[in-house]
Amino acid sequence: MAKHPPESESERTSGEQSGHVSEASQPLLGRVSRRSFLSHLGAASIAAATAPPLLATASPAPPVQEEAASIEGATAVTLHVNGKDHHLQIDPRTTLLDCLRENLNLPGTKKGCDHGQCGACTVHVNGRRINSCLALAVAHSGDEIITIEGIGRPDHLHPMQAAFIEHDGYQCGYCTSGQIMSAVALLKEPVGPTDEDVQQGMYGNICRCGAYSNIVAAVQYVRRQA
Ligand code: FES
Ligand code: FES
Repeated sequence: MAKHPPESESERTSGEQSGHVSEASQPLLGRVSRRSFLSHLGAASIAAATAPPLLATASPAPPVQEEAASIEGATAVTLHVNGKDHHLQIDPRTTLLDCLRENLNLPGTKKGCDHGQCGACTVHVNGRRINSCLALAVAHSGDEIITIEGIGRPDHLHPMQAAFIEHDGYQCGYCTSGQIMSAVALLKEPVGPTDEDVQQGMYGNICRCGAYSNIVAAVQYVRRQA
């Protein structure tokens, strides 16, 4: 089973992605329902994927150009991500996943296996879902790239994000951004109407917490609304 790699400093310090609950909040838990608690936790978790990293303000990452100056053979690339152009100088071997997370400071896209086997790194490129760990960033100059940060905001969730919260479609949340990106893409794909069809359509997205039945319920809910 693939281990999760260390998260960025901002994600570790936020505590929200791990579902950490402080001792001070525990008396409260006895007075709320599991659904109510998970809904708040889920909103926080999904919001964490779309909010600016907490430490970005305190200690900003060095400008990409400065960083690239020390990289021998750096290549110029323009990536169009979530509606914005980013002019970068990067090592041509940089994967799209690493570029999004490390160069563009978009940690919502997760690194699970880094080998194309878990789907945690799913993003949309020109409207189709791909595993960003298998793509080189330089190969996507000019393409339209959408990440989890680009499909909804904490105060304006995509219907699929809201459905995942409503249907408890996650536990630890690590796979969730990839699941949601696949589920959103699936809405436009020729997938049959049954739960089994959705399971097949989401086959490349692994959830080691085993939240599959609730994920399917969330996807089917949104499909019915559509
Ligand atoms: S990180 Fe697992 S498929 Fe990309
Ligand atoms: S919710 Fe934990 S891996 Fe899917």
